[in-house]
Amino acid sequence: MARDGAIYVCQSCGGVHSKWAGQCPSCGAWNTLVEEQQASRPPGALAPTKSARSRSGLTFETLDVETPAPPRIVTGVSEFDRVCGGGVVPGSAMLLAGDPGVGKSTLLLQVSAQASLHGAKVAYISGEEAIEQVRARAQRMGLAHAPVQLAAETSLRAVIDGLKADAFDLVVIDSIQTLWSDQLEAAPGSVTQVRAAAGELVRLAKKKRVAVILVGHVTKDGQIAGPRVVEHMVDAVLAFEGERGYPFRILRGAKNRFGATDEIGVFEMGDVGLREVSNPSALFLNDTGERAAGAAVFAGLEGSRPVLVEFQALVAPSAYGTPRRAVVGWDTGRLAMVLAVLEARCGMSFGDKDVYLNVAGGLRITEPAADLAAAAALASSFADKPLPQDCVVFGEVSLSGDIRAVSRMDARAKEAAKLGFTSALAPRLAEEALAMKVYGVTRLSEAVDRIARGDFDGGA
Ligand code: TYD
Ligand code: MG
Repeated sequence: MARDGAIYVCQSCGGVHSKWAGQCPSCGAWNTLVEEQQASRPPGALAPTKSARSRSGLTFETLDVETPAPPRIVTGVSEFDRVCGGGVVPGSAMLLAGDPGVGKSTLLLQVSAQASLHGAKVAYISGEEAIEQVRARAQRMGLAHAPVQLAAETSLRAVIDGLKADAFDLVVIDSIQTLWSDQLEAAPGSVTQVRAAAGELVRLAKKKRVAVILVGHVTKDGQIAGPRVVEHMVDAVLAFEGERGYPFRILRGAKNRFGATDEIGVFEMGDVGLREVSNPSALFLNDTGERAAGAAVFAGLEGSRPVLVEFQALVAPSAYGTPRRAVVGWDTGRLAMVLAVLEARCGMSFGDKDVYLNVAGGLRITEPAADLAAAAALASSFADKPLPQDCVVFGEVSLSGDIRAVSRMDARAKEAAKLGFTSALAPRLAEEALAMKVYGVTRLSEAVDRIARGDFDGGA
């Protein structure tokens, strides 16, 4: 039985339990239950009524009041600002999550430097690197002249006191996992420590109206260490991603109380830090030779921005009993669906074939509009017939084998035209809507037939 007033809170999922257990009954995580004193009354008992509450000083307001848009600290790193929703909001807390080594410290050092050069008062607190290391990096990136206030500190108390004593506009904490409070028995980096540190910093952000950016390392299974708890506390979560072996880095909004979450920022990691890539299509399609069989250029949308990427498929006879399915940059389940539709509706058979699908450049595509591009790449590899060099592909494939129209087809076509593409394999509806030549299809089988016949010159 629990002691009087004691509850056990899972540090991973936030589940509340009356008894301690080694494994959280809600989420199954191990060793995450921590004893806390119950602060609130049990539900129902002596709860104040609404009117009593308003008498006791709670004031109600209407929704219909003009609220000015929140002011923003424009850092000057425009890819970053756009993903934030137009700059960093004062008094907000943000988490930048990513694998170790992806470039979080590099990005935030650039953001800090640029913001300070634009007039913001910026503190960069590193718990991971010594001052000399940060300074050397800044020098290499040509940012040594930026008036950023640097500190190396891991004590939560010292950080909070330091930030309270001064009026900063923007504070970067690199990383939340290195901060620890001596008032807690848990080890640095543990869920309890991370939660306490994040909690204090978020409170400080609101109280002092300073924008706080926390760096968080992602654990192997893709969770932010100090699982999920930090995500719930902050106003925005940005994920910084990159495929090993590619220089491209993608900044993605995963949660944002002050902006859209589907925007991406594209960077290229170079010798002198991260370079902003304002025209990612040109980068992802940075090829010169003929487009081979199995390649299809997808005209996609990432947030508000059209982005062209190449889908590459390889369909090859399988040497083993169980054929292989491997996919990079796209969803495995979605590949299984497209293969099933190709088999059931287009008479193709993949039962004895290995299938590999790759999105070039290290971008991860989540749009359903990519279905037709994936299917076209597969069909092209299957028939060993290349698609026309100047043709982009987009469209959603339904289980019945129909091709559905997708959003903002004109924006996709415009971006394609800008990069020298002159035609599109696309939903029939696009024929009238687009200025370029469209090979319109209503069924996936029409697209597959066209690819197998190489029938592209006459138009539809
Ligand atoms: P870093 O920002 O330290 O990563 P994180 O903070 O996410 O752990 O970046 C580390 C990697 O970036 C490292 O492998 C070196 C590389 N890098 C460059 O290639 N060029 C540069 O100018 C910098 C600063 C780093
Ligand atoms: Mg780092």
